[in-house]
Amino acid sequence: MHYAALCSAVLQKLRREGIRGLWRASVGSIKRSHSAFDEEFGTDTESIVHLWQLDIDSPNRDDGTRYQPVDPDLIRAAIETLPIGLEDFVFVDLGSGKGRTLLLASEYSFKRVIGVEFSPQLNAIATDNIGKYPKVRCQHVTSTCGDAATYEFPPDNLVIYLYHPFGERVFRQVLQNLEASLTRHEREVYVVYFNPVLASLLDASGFLQRVELPVEWAIAFRNSTAADPTSGGKCVQQHLSS
Ligand SMILES: C[S@@+](CC[C@H](N)C(=O)[O-])C[C@H]1O[C@@H](n2cnc3c(N)ncnc32)[C@H](O)[C@@H]1O
Repeated sequence: MHYAALCSAVLQKLRREGIRGLWRASVGSIKRSHSAFDEEFGTDTESIVHLWQLDIDSPNRDDGTRYQPVDPDLIRAAIETLPIGLEDFVFVDLGSGKGRTLLLASEYSFKRVIGVEFSPQLNAIATDNIGKYPKVRCQHVTSTCGDAATYEFPPDNLVIYLYHPFGERVFRQVLQNLEASLTRHEREVYVVYFNPVLASLLDASGFLQRVELPVEWAIAFRNSTAADPTSGGKCVQQHLSS
């Protein structure tokens, strides 16, 4: 729809149904938009949702980024490139939104796939999507409603996935929590970070090192317990997405 036509439709809706009608229509449009992925699986993962459209009860609301999914092929490529036995790892998506990445991760043999999302509305959509998606490999897939800043990591080997979900304040807190968790339970951790705006925080963390991830828009890190067979233990320092 052209910009002028869109403005006119918005004004008409506002005149006819007031601000509530406009709100309902905009949230409704979140559900109506479909991608090829959604067409295939009957899910609702494609359309962008801004945080102002949602009721989020968190002090970190203003530090969060809007919901937007990643191209499925990039997620699959990132998972397939990890030099690990996936069955020994739990996959955690911090800021999991409508859960598209959870669905994609469930196609692999992870022990469990967990999403953490602070919007109850997005979490409800994710849970619905999980119910619709065929359970190919991983049978334990959940979306939980909570704040990433207070999330307690399970004591398993982890693949932590992020698609630039929040700003520096929350990111620092998450890294602090992760380091403390690793001190309590020594284990292997990989971090896969799409649109890595805050990569410098991971570089400066002191407990994570870069590993090669030949996937567009993403970089990856591991802790020192996690061996990297592809680089013989040598870390890759260059920014692969730049
Ligand atoms: C760019 S989207 C990522 C979507 C999802 N990871 C994917 O790949 O399909 C960012 C998501 O992070 C969520 N978010 C932002 N801050 C958060 C926080 N502190 N705790 C939990 N979720 C958060 C937003 O609501 C949004 O759904």
